[in-house]
Amino acid sequence: MIASSDDLRFVHRYVKGSSPTTLLLLHGTGGDENDLLPLGRQVLPEAHLLSPRGKVLENGMPRFFKRLAMGVFDMEDLTQQTHALADFVEQAADHYRLDRDEIVALGYSNGANIAASLLLLHPNLLRRAALLHAMLPFDPGEFPDLGGTLVLLTGGRQDPYIAAEQTQALADLLGRAGADVTLEWQPGGHQLTHQEIETL
Ligand code: MLT
Repeated sequence: MIASSDDLRFVHRYVKGSSPTTLLLLHGTGGDENDLLPLGRQVLPEAHLLSPRGKVLENGMPRFFKRLAMGVFDMEDLTQQTHALADFVEQAADHYRLDRDEIVALGYSNGANIAASLLLLHPNLLRRAALLHAMLPFDPGEFPDLGGTLVLLTGGRQDPYIAAEQTQALADLLGRAGADVTLEWQPGGHQLTHQEIETL
């Protein structure tokens, strides 16, 4: 039986493209499935765009997983939501006939953090990832094999929500796991900047 898009368990937008690449767009806290579509189109004009909405609500604001305090994550929920998002990507790949070897994540803030969790728990799902203002979501204990995965990280030196050391810790861990990591620093805070978008 072919699944209908109602069977896919995340509210999402899908915009068909003309290249084999699919850009998985993951919004920040308080965003939704529409937020990153223009950025995705700008960064990879021909890619398919797949943009789910995080299923957790924090004071009415969508997120991809629960947190206990700023930067302190509910690990059980993070793990469950990461697996659920990986399932969604697999099901969406079947449903929309996407090339599973060409899935690229572009996440901002909370969306970048769940993308980092996807890299750690599902190391074969993403071919490339751009993680904008991400932190190490947890210490995986042992390294996944991320050989062949390209990761671009960007961070703001003055970001009040994502400590620079945490972004650096994520870059170091992904590198030790074999990913090809580039880390670009901006002088500012949590907002995305034009210079940062130009690095994508
Ligand atoms: C998170 O909770 O993922 C980070 O603190 C980023 C944020 O959403 O503020």
